[in-house]
Amino acid sequence: MDSLEIKGGVPLHGDVQISGAKNAVLPIMAATLLTPEKCVIHNVPNLSDVSFMARILESLGARVRLKGGTVTVEATRVKPVGNYDLIRKMRGSICILGPLLGRQHEARVSLPGGCVIGPRPIDLHLKGVRRLGAKVSIEEGYVCAQARRLKGADVFLGGRSGPTVLGTANLMMAAVLADGVTTIQSAACEPEVVDLADFLIKMGARIEGAGSPSVTIRGVKTLHGAEHEVIPDRIEAATFAIAAAATGGEITLHGVRPDHLHAVIDKLEETGVRITQKSLTLKVAAAKKLRPVDVTTQPYAGFPTDVQAQLMSLLILAPGISIITERIFESRFMHVSELTRLGADISIEGPSAIIKGGQPLSGAPIMASDLRASAALVLAGLSAKGKTLINRIYHLDRGYENIDAKLRKLGARIRRRNTE
Ligand code: EPU
Repeated sequence: MDSLEIKGGVPLHGDVQISGAKNAVLPIMAATLLTPEKCVIHNVPNLSDVSFMARILESLGARVRLKGGTVTVEATRVKPVGNYDLIRKMRGSICILGPLLGRQHEARVSLPGGCVIGPRPIDLHLKGVRRLGAKVSIEEGYVCAQARRLKGADVFLGGRSGPTVLGTANLMMAAVLADGVTTIQSAACEPEVVDLADFLIKMGARIEGAGSPSVTIRGVKTLHGAEHEVIPDRIEAATFAIAAAATGGEITLHGVRPDHLHAVIDKLEETGVRITQKSLTLKVAAAKKLRPVDVTTQPYAGFPTDVQAQLMSLLILAPGISIITERIFESRFMHVSELTRLGADISIEGPSAIIKGGQPLSGAPIMASDLRASAALVLAGLSAKGKTLINRIYHLDRGYENIDAKLRKLGARIRRRNTE
């Protein structure tokens, strides 16, 4: 199993190219199941989650070619039953439910399990497709959904923690081939939902309002092939911005959408980090004097839960008290115990982490637990004195394309070790 060895304390400098967004490309790949024609998707990051989704599409009968940042999918014929073990392993694969149901009128998709960041139910996904007329049951670990014809309906999709991103994606994909009009109220507004809608529209779908809480989908008879370029990964961009800030460096991010990063930019500026935007670039310079801040994670356009852990790795360096409140996922503080190992002073009270920043950090062997927690540990390792060894970094490869190579190019002393 690979681990990462980091010798911390080097300020990062230089330029970094941001990759395509993982959380946009996964539902877009699922959407290719909606047509027998060829779809071509560009700016696809080389990630294990993407290869995994490719294998899932193949297991459903699609022909998939992944080459140099482009994925080509031809789903001439599609089976409605996915490979149980493949699908079960990746939470994002639930978004094949909507397209299978839309095109095949039937879907058997293994129930995704919970994960370390919380229980992750799919009740809202099921509520959505039931409202369109699907019969849904859980049998032998599969979600089984069937509908001779899906019929458009008004669906309120708000849940306990607000809207659902993949639930909105799933319902949009089920509704594009349904009879009549579907409206989704309390839809997720994330840029990844908008990117999916843009792709579906290129395929011939009729969707209005994506990016707002109210989305209208007018069903069409068939969809055709399309070509699309995936949006830049706002979470990767935020992670690199924080890497510059945490190491006292200055870097320029290329190929970003600053308009997707308002909440992150605003919060970083509050800590004293200096940010300059210029069309698709973002220049990030460390704060002269880092200040503590309070932040609460929220659905888009609020501060993203997917950047919560990384921001914590910056706030442990800011002298004073910072409070991070996690409102999207129940137990997304797995990184806290490992940051404590490096010398950080953090206590958890309910949904909040109270950070007494400014303690000296020194490198240690630590363990990655999930994707964003792993990114946070890398950032902390980069700023800590001495050597940090991060084990179980396969989580990072799920969501960050060549993170170690990109950081090395910025001057970081980081190398991958095979510890087997
Ligand atoms: N929820 C329900 N019922 C549902 C669905 C969700 O109660 O049927 C709850 C969840 O438990 C959570 C909240 O609603 O409390 C929001 O979850 P959401 O459904 O929006 O999450 P998701 O769509 O499963 C995507 C991203 C996550 C990201 C969240 C929130 C992908 C593949 N995953 O998950 O990304 O954290 O939206 O923005 O798009 C990551 O990239 O590290 C990651 C975890």
